Amino acid sequence: MLNVSNAPTAQFEALQARGAKFLGTELAIMGGAMSWVSERNLVAAISNAGGFGVIACGAMPPALLEKEIAATQAITAKPFGVNLITMHPQLDDLVQICIRAGVGHVVLAGGIPPGPAVRAVKDGGAKLIAFAPALVLAKRFVKSGVDALVIEGSEAGGHIGPVSLTVLAQEILPHIRDIPVFVAGGLGRGEAILGYLEMGAAGAQLGTRFAASVESIAHPNFKNAFLRANARDAIPSIQLDERFPVIPVRGLVNEGTKKFLAHQAETIQKFQSGELDKTQAQLAIEHFWAGALRRAVVEGDVEGGSVMAGQSVGMVTAIQKVSEILQELKDQAVAALALREQTRTYADIGAA
Ligand SMILES: Cc1cc2nc3c(=O)[nH]c(=O)nc-3n(C[C@H](O)[C@H](O)[C@H](O)COP(=O)(O)O)c2cc1C
Repeated sequence: MLNVSNAPTAQFEALQARGAKFLGTELAIMGGAMSWVSERNLVAAISNAGGFGVIACGAMPPALLEKEIAATQAITAKPFGVNLITMHPQLDDLVQICIRAGVGHVVLAGGIPPGPAVRAVKDGGAKLIAFAPALVLAKRFVKSGVDALVIEGSEAGGHIGPVSLTVLAQEILPHIRDIPVFVAGGLGRGEAILGYLEMGAAGAQLGTRFAASVESIAHPNFKNAFLRANARDAIPSIQLDERFPVIPVRGLVNEGTKKFLAHQAETIQKFQSGELDKTQAQLAIEHFWAGALRRAVVEGDVEGGSVMAGQSVGMVTAIQKVSEILQELKDQAVAALALREQTRTYADIGAA
């Protein structure tokens, strides 16, 4: 008879213990901050279900962030974090809002965390999480006192770097052992999370799957677009001319992405004819997507808006409750470990 044991569950718990302890959660799974999506309801749902929700501050002014934190605290007693964008003009005020509200973890995204913000977070007694896009920066962040890192591969939804998680994980995980490292980008199943835990990751961060959850306040059109899409539909924004850089953002192909190409071509034409100077042309290109994520998430304009999504979108096959998503991820990881144990048992029987 096959050996049925709790060993796979215990193994999984052990592999994710460091990340869970750092976050103060049951599961070392973070709900990556998503502008317009990661607000009180989704954040509290993730934290209440044993994961770690993160509020996306985005461009919110300090007073609005203060309200959002209080509203989240009203519906969860569990730990959650706040993601602040480093280029926000009131970054220091936002950090103070987090500290005063007793937020335990602050995530600094969108660039190298500025020294004063790092010190303010730490002096305030909160833990600081930063994104490391390369090993040199990861090492620098460890030295500067960052408490944990997220390495986000180019498979992710939203603003992306050029390197996949497969490569980033190999470059960074073996070398950063002093602080926990969470992996992100393209994760949709527990087996993949298990693989990265075994490589030394402390936990994982997912965005796309949670954006399509029951508790996500995203417009039904936005969630349905996720349901219909395959991995190959989630592509990075395309740049037509190297003189006019385009910030790489991964999202679903739609009318907007096609119009963006035509808009770039027209703008470049206007630059070449002297109608626009270089700065005006660059601004015209950058302005194209202004407000576009909000239009897609809040208003449901999934044709003209920006439907940011990771390549993991192909693994969104139903609108599930956050608790079901988390349970499924854990079950898949545990089942993979159980299968391994079973294979070993068969091998032992064979050998006997
Ligand atoms: C709709 C959407 C909006 C996002 N907005 C932000 C953001 O405001 N700040 C941020 O740091 N990351 C943002 N992200 C990235 C997520 O936090 C997360 O790292 C990413 O979704 C992980 O990859 P996955 O989508 O394949 O799970 C966004 C992702 C999506 C899908």
